[in-house]
Amino acid sequence: MSNFYKFCYYKKGNTVKKIDVNLKERAYSIIIMEGLLDDLSAKIESFVSKRKVLIVSDSNVSKLYSKKVISAIQEISADVDIAIFPAGEPSKTLKTVESLYEKAIEFGLDRSSVIVALGGGVVGDIAGFLAATYMRGIDFIQIPTSLLAMVDSSVGGKTGVDLPAGKNLIGAFWQPKVVLIDPNTLKTLPEREIKCGLAEVIKYGIIMDEDFFRYLENHTQELNQLDCECFSSVIARCCILKAEVVIADEREETGTRAILNYGHTFAHAIEVIRGFENINHGEAVAIGMCMAASLSVADMRLDDAAELRQENLLRALHLPCSIDNIKASEIYTAMHKDKKAVNGKLRFILPETIGEVALVSEEINKNMIMQAIRNCSD
Ligand SMILES: NC(=O)c1ccc[n+]([C@@H]2O[C@H](COP(=O)([O-])OP(=O)(O)OC[C@H]3O[C@@H](n4cnc5c(N)ncnc54)[C@H](O)[C@@H]3O)[C@@H](O)[C@H]2O)c1
Ligand SMILES: [Zn+2]
Repeated sequence: MSNFYKFCYYKKGNTVKKIDVNLKERAYSIIIMEGLLDDLSAKIESFVSKRKVLIVSDSNVSKLYSKKVISAIQEISADVDIAIFPAGEPSKTLKTVESLYEKAIEFGLDRSSVIVALGGGVVGDIAGFLAATYMRGIDFIQIPTSLLAMVDSSVGGKTGVDLPAGKNLIGAFWQPKVVLIDPNTLKTLPEREIKCGLAEVIKYGIIMDEDFFRYLENHTQELNQLDCECFSSVIARCCILKAEVVIADEREETGTRAILNYGHTFAHAIEVIRGFENINHGEAVAIGMCMAASLSVADMRLDDAAELRQENLLRALHLPCSIDNIKASEIYTAMHKDKKAVNGKLRFILPETIGEVALVSEEINKNMIMQAIRNCSD
């Protein structure tokens, strides 16, 4: 029996799943539990008791969940306030962070205070950066509410904001003290955002874990029906995998962490050309993974059958595998401007089989890259 199935078996039902991110003095836990927000006082008490707490949230998530979170924190005699900014990526700026610094000062936050990020990846990245920089760094807690934030952005300590010149150009590594995940919050997440997260979920299967990939193949119906128990297991598995990568390469120094960028070099180029408002990140990642797999087949690393398995799973979860009205040469040029390009040279994460990828730094023939893009264009 694979570890994943064992994990699902032992942790079945509405139980607490706890994953430790062993980063020595920066170690923390990820707690996953359906209904966690209804039992938040108990879960958050040791991190906030007798301290000032500033919740940071966006205009959508705060309407849905802030009341619950505020009263849970008040129950344990912590002094709590909330700062809310307009939902969406355009808010991920230094200007928003500056307004949050002002709010923090006004509320009297000091070095012993705690920031709670309640929302998707945008909230987590902004609140984390606020925590990393306010008074040279104070504690923060992640309560991710989007699937992408649960499986990816809330774990690993990357925080930051965008500049007009590009996404995530300003930032800091700053690990949370705890990550508290309530999969029930996915019930209010728009369907398109669920799909966005699922592209990253599939990514973990391809880069690291064939058993997990098979589990996803066997549970497409449950995933499409938003079966909470299935999502809990999937989120837990992704957090375990992300934690493994982060422990191996906390600050993106050894190259291990780069595998998380599978499909992303193509995806970022697609997002820049299409415009971030017209294509969702997960859709771009799905297409990007198809391009990377096609390139890997051409480079004699991956076999056709594995490429087809990836495509079939993406399609079964209603994710796109190709893009229309786009020129291969435009994508190729945009890829070279990506901040992950080193000295203008591209590095590719190419799958060798389902569950294993290679970081390929040597030059890959331009025609081969262009052909891989064309193979996934309508
Ligand atoms: N730090 C990292 O390691 C890392 C990794 C991946 C992505 N990111 C960043 O994450 C961001 C994307 O995150 P995202 O996809 O969560 O976007 P997001 O935070 O904008 O959330 C997407 C939308 O869903 C709404 N929402 C969130 N939770 C909800 C809920 N439970 N119910 C109803 N609506 C809800 C939000 O208000 C928003 O409108 C990007 O800025 C990206 O750069 C960071
Ligand atoms: Zn991504």
